[in-house]
Amino acid sequence: PARPLTVSVIGCGYLGAVHAAAMAEAGHRVIGLDVDAPRIAQLGSGRAPFHEPGLAEVLASGLSREALSFTTDPAALADGDVHFLALGTPQRTDGPGADLSFLHAALDALIPQLRRRAGRTTLVVGKSTVPVGTARELAARLADLPGVHLVWNPEFLREGRAVADALRPDRLVYGIGEDPHSPAGQEAVAALDAVYRPMLEAGVPRRVMSYESAELVKVSANSFLATKISFINAVAALCERTGADVADVADAIGMDERIGPQFLRSGIGFGGGCLPKDLRALLSRAEELGAGDSFGVLREVDAINAGRRTRAVDLAREALDGQLAGARVAVLGAAFKPDTDDVRDSPALEIARRLAAAGARVRITDPAALPAVRRLAPELTTEPDPQHALRDAELVLLLTEWPAYRALDPRRTARLVARPRIIDGRGVLDLPRWRSAGWECRALGRP
Ligand code: UDX
Repeated sequence: PARPLTVSVIGCGYLGAVHAAAMAEAGHRVIGLDVDAPRIAQLGSGRAPFHEPGLAEVLASGLSREALSFTTDPAALADGDVHFLALGTPQRTDGPGADLSFLHAALDALIPQLRRRAGRTTLVVGKSTVPVGTARELAARLADLPGVHLVWNPEFLREGRAVADALRPDRLVYGIGEDPHSPAGQEAVAALDAVYRPMLEAGVPRRVMSYESAELVKVSANSFLATKISFINAVAALCERTGADVADVADAIGMDERIGPQFLRSGIGFGGGCLPKDLRALLSRAEELGAGDSFGVLREVDAINAGRRTRAVDLAREALDGQLAGARVAVLGAAFKPDTDDVRDSPALEIARRLAAAGARVRITDPAALPAVRRLAPELTTEPDPQHALRDAELVLLLTEWPAYRALDPRRTARLVARPRIIDGRGVLDLPRWRSAGWECRALGRP
């Protein structure tokens, strides 16, 4: 077990809330800080502010042991041995690149508290996803504070599996500003090792590298994952023209260990708060640094991904013999993937909205994301019960592969709808079984 440290997590959004709970699980005393008072109150009462399996349990456990608390008061940072920066870095609205103002505001609040520590070793650990070069810029703001080290420690957690990923990551990456063999470098690494002791003892590998490398690990990893998805989706377009089945192709190429089976599920493409944003941020930073030419591939990845949404709308129009206007369409799924209520850049939601914009009467259902749909897409009719969403539909689209939708019984479902026609946007249905139950089936990239 870890020697308990006093740890703060600044920024209690997705990343910060999960990380704070995970640090309490790792045996530390944790304070979560955010400027959003309602969110802090919610977290402090043990309620997860978003749908994330297992989060409420680890929050409750930390709160009940008094290992975890939440506040809006920066004075609570005064005793911290370690401060995690878990602020959002959204796409800028006034130009390309990432908005770093939340990170800078966090340092504004933190620096006066760090001054009071009078030379005691203190770690500031950046977890946010940032453009390469940011950590060195932030480190300059801490340079006159003796004993304070900045480490850049990107986070790789996946929504829907965030708690498990935070407790047992595939790897820990430490980006440091000093030579790793220098006394200062060794001190920074040892201090962060003390924080992650339980994970390191459980065998999680860690890598020490420069700030710039650590920053690039994160955006490169996400851009590579996006590339894998768009690549298989490009193959899917070819499958559609030739009668090949992208599921068979993906399965067989994935057996090559050098390729691997994951992130080769073809369908309506990727969305969410990370993959699209990180890939655009890497592209724009590469352009700023004069390496834009090497990243045309990422522009293509983004374009192929956008094309999948258009393809799904076209397939729906085709299925309805060209008549979207007035058609009753049931959409299964709104979240950008299962096990989350997140609809940021969700392909499912965008497709549903485009169908509605073309005049279709869309009824959309989702086990978790309907409150967000009502906020963002008031033109859609939301229906919590999938049976009701399906009733009398002339076309069904499966756009987020929640287990409940994958488990639908084709025979029973056929009795609910007006016309048994379905588009599988995620390549998850057993199409022969649906066809034998009388369904007319279409799937992207499959015959
Ligand atoms: C991603 C990274 O996986 C994670 O490591 C990082 O920390 C944050 O970004 P997340 O955004 O939670 O995590 O979602 P992920 O599971 O990666 O899925 C992203 C999108 O790709 C989803 O819309 C998903 O439906 C889609 N996807 C995924 C595919 O279309 N095909 C696949 O084979 C895999």
